[in-house]
Amino acid sequence: WPVHAPYVAAINQLKRERNAVILAHNYQTPEIYHCVADIVGDSLALAQRAAETDADVIVMAGVHFMAETAKLLNPDKIVLMPDMDAGCSLAESITGDDVRLLREAYPGVPVVTYVNTSADVKAESDVCCTSGNAVKVVESLGVDKVLFLPDEYLAKYVATQTKVEIIAWRGHCEVHEQFSGDEIRRYRQGHENLVVIAHPECPPDVIEAADFAGSTAQMIDYVRNRRPGKVLMVTECSMSDNIAAEIRDVEFVRPCNLCPHMKRITLANIYASLESLQPRVEIDPRIADRARLAVERMLAVGR
Ligand code: 13P
Ligand code: SF4
Repeated sequence: WPVHAPYVAAINQLKRERNAVILAHNYQTPEIYHCVADIVGDSLALAQRAAETDADVIVMAGVHFMAETAKLLNPDKIVLMPDMDAGCSLAESITGDDVRLLREAYPGVPVVTYVNTSADVKAESDVCCTSGNAVKVVESLGVDKVLFLPDEYLAKYVATQTKVEIIAWRGHCEVHEQFSGDEIRRYRQGHENLVVIAHPECPPDVIEAADFAGSTAQMIDYVRNRRPGKVLMVTECSMSDNIAAEIRDVEFVRPCNLCPHMKRITLANIYASLESLQPRVEIDPRIADRARLAVERMLAVGR
């Protein structure tokens, strides 16, 4: 990508000067994922690696809730979010007040919250999870019923994997809710021996029509390890671009659903934020300790 070369060189130079690390989600574009990121991964890996870093500055090439999680785990470090408007429809779907009302409606039922939420919502939760460890987190509680917020489809997927009763909320990912089982079947008709792997934020009929469901990192591992001849990754489409650049012996069939929030992050705004050390993510001190506890409990469960 010659057009990106000056930015790539300048960003990598600034990273050294600032002792900064760039964490990039698997949905970032190839020039970010392959050329400037120090750590790439799913939401769980980004939280785990944020907890371990000894850099002074963390740049989150992802969305706002990921930067908040990194800040919760690194209250004394500078956490930069190159575009503060990079949100998430799931995080937008629920507030701390909603969780307080749910607790009143279901007294004594623990609250498991997907990391795709604001720090305010995390502060009202018992424990967080990601799609990479949701079942393990739910089962770690040793209870027969949990509130699982806010992704209705991930909640439904978890319910198929555990005996614990799952009470769901009505949030959806605006990218994954667009897929349908019929669309998957049409792709299968058009492509012989197609392997279909889907993110569990997809609707249940998509998961049923797929061969495998898992977090973004689990989907990548599936392709790396099993090398299907032809694969359809039912998720945000930069994933296929990133992994196709690495794995040449697999054919990627690509529907293209982009996450408009993830796509707000560019080499230009990564450079600008590293240069100015702005904009910084800060967490209201009245909620930070409680939100951190929910994230730390998730990290203690692990993957
Ligand atoms: P992962 O935790 O699987 O990376 O998913 C994050 C996300 O935002 C998916 O839409
Ligand atoms: Fe949120 Fe969906 Fe975008 Fe992931 S892909 S950040 S869940 S809107």
